[in-house]
Amino acid sequence: MIAATDTPMASRLVNGVLSIKPLANLAKHQARSMMIKRAESMGVYWRQEVATLRSRGGDAAFSHEWEADLERITNTEVIYPDYYRRSFHAYEQGNLSWDAAMEVEVAAHAVHARLWPKAGRNGDAMLRQSYHTVLQQQLSRPPHTILDIGCSVGMSTFALQAMYPDAQITGVDLSPYFLAIAQYRCQQFHPSSPHSPTWRHAPAEATGLPDACCDLVSAHLIFHELPQVAAIGVLQEARRLLRSGGYLAIMDMNPRSEVYATMPPYILTLLKSTEPYLDDYFAFDLEQAIYEAGFDRPTVTCNSPRHRTVVARTR
Ligand SMILES: C[S@@+](CC[C@H](N)C(=O)[O-])C[C@H]1O[C@@H](n2cnc3c(N)ncnc32)[C@H](O)[C@@H]1O
Repeated sequence: MIAATDTPMASRLVNGVLSIKPLANLAKHQARSMMIKRAESMGVYWRQEVATLRSRGGDAAFSHEWEADLERITNTEVIYPDYYRRSFHAYEQGNLSWDAAMEVEVAAHAVHARLWPKAGRNGDAMLRQSYHTVLQQQLSRPPHTILDIGCSVGMSTFALQAMYPDAQITGVDLSPYFLAIAQYRCQQFHPSSPHSPTWRHAPAEATGLPDACCDLVSAHLIFHELPQVAAIGVLQEARRLLRSGGYLAIMDMNPRSEVYATMPPYILTLLKSTEPYLDDYFAFDLEQAIYEAGFDRPTVTCNSPRHRTVVARTR
């Protein structure tokens, strides 16, 4: 558990507020307004960027082309696990909504803006770069085929593609809303690239892809969103998908970081109210689970003040 063992007054108060729906909604509204204001003060023009995306740069509030794209990318055979249907990141419908999808990019820029002093809007790119630096150091050769699991709107996928321009990359995600945006961004930014990523609507624990089809499975910021049973399923699926000598790389929050150890418990409580599996993630022995899924013992590298990169080769 990440919460302090005693439950200080402020935490109890926050928990009490969050258990009363109208108060919880008010708290969410306030937290959201504060986050948007703070983002905009750091050069992340939240409202403007989201409006441009919703309308695809046009005048309409919401472009109807999104609905057609959603239909095209949706795999109607996907069955959403119960854990995925929960409210996430203060969105009532979790990751299965346009609101969540339209705000992923600005939220990532805002959340990572304070990772390093003066990082600001570049914090997100710096975090991805710090992960790639670890990959460069630890992978014995550049991967030809990569699977980006939990690819969301493609930020991690495009970053990997820039790093390995000749690689064939597939982004897998359970939210067709996010994938619709990934596909749109791909057409917008990389229309004629010979190696554009492809997108697959599927659970990371059952991708439907063939055995031994890739050299690197990359999981950037997905594991903290998984209950432990699902996390184990994803590790087993990654092992099945990797060729002999292939790598699994996981970049996510570092439960051992000072930042979490010294975080005031009421802030942690607020954080957990938007991240339902954070306790599961912090209590999970990821290194042992990776080993048990059929990998060598992983290396763990701190790549930001509060993130770690875990890399393991198939055993
Ligand atoms: C915090 S986002 C990370 C996004 C992206 N990799 C990045 O670095 O910006 C986590 C993503 O994992 C996806 N996800 C969560 N559980 C999943 C599962 N079981 N299968 C596939 N995707 C999942 C969510 O839909 C979401 O897009």
